[in-house]
Amino acid sequence: MTDTFLKQGEIISFIGRTDLTEALKRYETPFFLYSGESIINRYNFIKQFIKWKNIKIFYAMKSNYHPQILEILRNEGCGIDAVSPAEVFLALKCGFTPDRVIFTSNNSTDEEISEISRTGVLINIDSLSRLEKYGRKYQGTDICLRFNTDVVAGEHSHIQTGGPKTKFGILLSDVEKVLQICGKYSLKVIGVHKHAGSGISDKSKFIQSMKNLLSIALKENFPDLKFIDLGGGFKVKYHPEEADVDYDEFGETAGNVFKEFCDNYGRQLSLYIEPGKFLTSEAGIFLVQVNTLKKNKERNIAGVNSGFTHLMRPVLYNAYHHIINISNPDGELRVYDICGNICESGDCFAVDRLIPEIREGDFLAIMNAGAYCFSMASIYNMRPLPREIFFIKVNLNLAI
Ligand SMILES: Cc1ncc(COP(=O)(O)O)c(C=O)c1O
Repeated sequence: MTDTFLKQGEIISFIGRTDLTEALKRYETPFFLYSGESIINRYNFIKQFIKWKNIKIFYAMKSNYHPQILEILRNEGCGIDAVSPAEVFLALKCGFTPDRVIFTSNNSTDEEISEISRTGVLINIDSLSRLEKYGRKYQGTDICLRFNTDVVAGEHSHIQTGGPKTKFGILLSDVEKVLQICGKYSLKVIGVHKHAGSGISDKSKFIQSMKNLLSIALKENFPDLKFIDLGGGFKVKYHPEEADVDYDEFGETAGNVFKEFCDNYGRQLSLYIEPGKFLTSEAGIFLVQVNTLKKNKERNIAGVNSGFTHLMRPVLYNAYHHIINISNPDGELRVYDICGNICESGDCFAVDRLIPEIREGDFLAIMNAGAYCFSMASIYNMRPLPREIFFIKVNLNLAI
């Protein structure tokens, strides 16, 4: 048992292609299956929709830090948005040079800041307190500053990172205090940053938070700017019937706003974005197997060999993840609760979900499992971590 426990959570990578039938024959469920090709396609799409020639993408690796994903993005020319020393070190170990990594600090310790500064990675500072402590120790260095642009956006309150209730960023109204500290320690602000939230469907909020950030990014405040960092938050479709976000229209508007800003600033700056979910969410599926069917009065409960320790977004954010019965895709539709094996009542991947008839032994595919799923996994209840299997090409034919 101990051996099995230790073996799980294995990271497996293949350069070739697979399909579900083959993967299920080769590996025991539960496992995550990632498609490199899907990530590269999303990367190329996001690179072109914001109409600005100097756009640089920093992948928010918190969404999925599988080393093969980091490697393919590195080969595409992408940078890394890291939020902990371990993320910075993994990025460097995977071959990203320090100039291609930004560390966005949040409530970091002095020790963490000194560890990062030894690597040469740029630090994005998000409080006046940290700015003061940083300036005292690292006078005359380059920094980036994270602001709270006072716009509340994002698909759940836990991932709204702007506005009056958030812990993130420096208030725009504190810009005078920022200038005073930066002046005192000769800090050179080469970038300003915001990340308003995750899964932003209302693009006008994204544009408003961008405009609010640009309103303080004036030459008289920050004459050394090289870039403006707009963070991530680009929404993906979780429900098949959700409307598509019109990224072309949004990209056009963002490009125009930025052009006007740069014309006024007097220099053509780089525009940075930090997508996580947009690159990886749709590139992953999670495969589980049904082992127990039971009824609680009128409820049909399908119990599977995994739980929220492997994929916690439904529990954490009440998030919808589409679930397909790949063993019986044409079965008669019935309503199920799809429940996990963790000793908590909330441990459900879906409640009241219409799904083709489920039999014990059926395999279920949980969609959009590439972002914020394995990277949030834990071994609560001492359930082992699942495997993560990466292929360059995955034929997502969802009937086996
Ligand atoms: C600072 C920062 N940048 C980028 C992201 C990526 O967000 P998303 O995955 O929604 O694109 C996050 C997510 O939490 C973040 O905190």
